[in-house]
Amino acid sequence: MGLLDGKVAFVTGAARGQGRSHARRLAEEGADIIAIDACTTQDWLSYRLATEADLAQTAKEVEATGRRIIARQVDVRDLSAVRNVLAEAVPELGGRLDIVCANAAIISQPAPTWEIDLDQWRELIDVTLTGVFVTVKAAIPHMIAAGNGGSIALTSSGAALISGAGLGDYKAAKAGVLSLTRTLACELAEHFIRVNAICPTAVDTPMIQNETLYRSFRPDLPNPGREDVKAGFQTMNLLPIPWVDPVDVSNAIVWLASDAARYITGVTLPVDAGNQHK
Ligand SMILES: NC(=O)c1ccc[n+]([C@@H]2O[C@H](COP(=O)([O-])OP(=O)(O)OC[C@H]3O[C@@H](n4cnc5c(N)ncnc54)[C@H](O)[C@@H]3O)[C@@H](O)[C@H]2O)c1
Repeated sequence: MGLLDGKVAFVTGAARGQGRSHARRLAEEGADIIAIDACTTQDWLSYRLATEADLAQTAKEVEATGRRIIARQVDVRDLSAVRNVLAEAVPELGGRLDIVCANAAIISQPAPTWEIDLDQWRELIDVTLTGVFVTVKAAIPHMIAAGNGGSIALTSSGAALISGAGLGDYKAAKAGVLSLTRTLACELAEHFIRVNAICPTAVDTPMIQNETLYRSFRPDLPNPGREDVKAGFQTMNLLPIPWVDPVDVSNAIVWLASDAARYITGVTLPVDAGNQHK
């Protein structure tokens, strides 16, 4: 018996990192999975995004739980492609959609806001905020039509809760996600569809575990690595850890999707090791 037996979940950015972990954890609790990821990268990003092989690995891990997965290479900015995958997958998985995890996003390099390139600003907002809008725009009609209520979790960030210089584009997108969460919670309550935001502190995924970030944290070292940035990351959290694991965020997603959270909607849930109180 799982917490989510018989349910169907849609996860974006599912090829690796938190998205893969969400897909696996939701499947472990009994949900079938619809997974999308762009599996491509942008030249200006300082780190690589996921690959088709990564998405195939997610599919393998979900199937190992005994649940079904329909995984497709789709960009969250492409409304018709997102609609097409749901039009194919929802009937295939029994005509219902219970859980949505709008997780896909990109992050920029910290820079003073007035120095952010305009095209880069537009592209980051397009993926990280408009991509969430596209995800829910495509998914909600299926949830309402199925009439089973449901849980939508929008991934924001601890960065949207605290003040600080840099990442003005990313923080603006993630603050937009918080506002969207509350609006949707009001609009969807009558359908018993709950909408909540998750705000993680640093999470142990390639978004932070990459050479460019290591170098910006430790410019004093010729070849900084994971171990060299741990202490710096730890200063940001109240609990004495540098980052949380993807599964810590997935467990919050599972809980929000479960009956244990059946009357919880419109909240901003930090999974942040106390980061916002530092
Ligand atoms: N890692 C952190 O420290 C951290 C902290 C707070 C919030 N977050 C948020 O958590 C979420 C998951 O990030 P992660 O840590 O797993 O990073 P990640 O880079 O490992 O995963 C992001 C995934 O989204 C995919 N993606 C990017 N652009 C896409 C697009 N246009 N369409 C479809 N898929 C796309 C990537 O290919 C990748 O698989 C993001 O919303 C991120 O902003 C991350």
